[in-house]
Amino acid sequence: MAAFGRTQLLKLAQMSSMSLNGAGSATRTMGAGQLGLGDSQKRFKSKTSRLAKILPKAKYGGRHTVTMLPGGGIGPELMGYVREVFRYAGVPVDFEEVNINPNTEGNEDLEYAITSIRRNGVALKGNIETKSLSPNVMSRNVALRNELDLFVNVIHCLSYAGVPSRQKDIDVYLIRQNTEGEYAMLEHESVYGVVECLKIVTRENSERLARYAFDFAKKHGRKKVTTIHKANIMKTSDGLFLEISRQIAKEYPDIQHNDMIIDNCCMQLVSNPHQFDVMLMTNLYGSIVSNVICGLMGGAGLLSGRNYGTEYAIFEPGTRNTGTSIAGKNIANPISMMNAAADLLHHLRLENHSVWLREAIDQTINVDKIHTPDLGGQATSMDVVKNIVNYLQAKTKVENW
Ligand code: NAI
Repeated sequence: MAAFGRTQLLKLAQMSSMSLNGAGSATRTMGAGQLGLGDSQKRFKSKTSRLAKILPKAKYGGRHTVTMLPGGGIGPELMGYVREVFRYAGVPVDFEEVNINPNTEGNEDLEYAITSIRRNGVALKGNIETKSLSPNVMSRNVALRNELDLFVNVIHCLSYAGVPSRQKDIDVYLIRQNTEGEYAMLEHESVYGVVECLKIVTRENSERLARYAFDFAKKHGRKKVTTIHKANIMKTSDGLFLEISRQIAKEYPDIQHNDMIIDNCCMQLVSNPHQFDVMLMTNLYGSIVSNVICGLMGGAGLLSGRNYGTEYAIFEPGTRNTGTSIAGKNIANPISMMNAAADLLHHLRLENHSVWLREAIDQTINVDKIHTPDLGGQATSMDVVKNIVNYLQAKTKVENW
């Protein structure tokens, strides 16, 4: 099979068609032999607790090893900045760099990247290009997420006070399904001129995602979860996603739950984003909503995105752009990758380093206002990085002293 992760997707498609054959409301009720919500929760918790046992494996001689996937476009230069910042801040992390050739149809690089992440447990990633136009070659980004079962993507959309933007004081968490939905990449031309594209929604993934969102809201003191969908048109697929989120919501009486159709959601975001707190959605809606919010807050160069499964984690810029047109010009905004690096440090429980890096970012963007052209400034990427390094050097000197 040429495309990586295809077996898993076909399995999902089979699962989906099995429940679709049941049709209508039958697909939304729990059948005999299926997991109950309690069982699912227990299983989720037990897998999560395994994470604690897995992480220390990557720590050789007191240092963490992290897989680095630079990807294309601005990815390699942003990774260079992260290395520089880590060096100056004395971060005990070694990177295992894996480059995936965007021009090849083979899977050797991808398989090596997956092995490396399985060994290290965690990766920092740029956007990986897949140049092949063959429908049999799956996007490398999608394949990675599927193979590692990174079922949830979390983006914290938090405004920067020092950045001129269309909307101020946004503080919203996006919780996005990350492995199925519209990204199943299962398309075929059934007869000449008629193309079918499968959108896969499974009970299991919808349920663990909804539970993740409500647990997350509870843990982070959030008040409301809004499920985003198009269940008025996709009545069975988005209908299942919505119904499961409503079921799970009942187990969290302290968290308010409402839902909104994706079209209206985009309008509401542009006119009044402050009504949202935690947003729960399928894969493609997550991509659209994250791009809309980033646009409102100052663009693609600021926010990071975190991809979690029960065993592995990947950190990357929130909107997953390649930025090919600005590559090599010393104008790409390094902040989204710096935020991803701070998320990584937090994940590795290098809490001091994570906090210092976030402080350095805050100082650079909000106080010193060192802004690259995407934020309306004239600073270069290197100016931003130097400012961050200066802050960290001063900070680590004081702290170590
Ligand atoms: P792009 O890479 O052209 O970026 C969109 C805009 O954001 C460009 O103007 C770019 O210069 C700017 N930008 C991105 N990162 C920046 C940074 N760090 N600093 C300053 N400006 C920055 O994005 P496009 O056209 O959406 O996609 C290009 C590739 O990325 C495609 O292969 C696409 O599949 C992939 N991609 C895009 C996603 C998206 O959410 N837009 C999601 C996943 C993949």
